Amino acid sequence: MKTESIVHKQTELVAYTRTSDFGRDAVGAISANLRQLLADVFALYLKTKNFHWHMTGRHFRDYHLLLDEQGEQIFGMTDDIAERARKLGRSTLRSIGDIASNSA
Ligand SMILES: [Fe+2]
Repeated sequence: MKTESIVHKQTELVAYTRTSDFGRDAVGAISANLRQLLADVFALYLKTKNFHWHMTGRHFRDYHLLLDEQGEQIFGMTDDIAERARKLGRSTLRSIGDIASNSA
């Protein structure tokens, strides 16, 4: 195990002991699920923006605006999910690669 990884695990453990009444396994399970949820929400956000950007046809304006509104709502979820994981003392997504590897 790399030193950086060990330090990261120790930091998470210290944060965990300070911030949570859950057992360590529960925190790990909740954090893993939050990470996957966050990855899925980012993926859904991008898919929604894809349709927003590429919408064509008679109802373009209505759907374009609807998808923009939905995209804003979906993106608005991301901060709460990520910060919930951080409050448990765990890390959350750090990159596009993390989104890809954690998405269901
Ligand atoms: Fe737009």
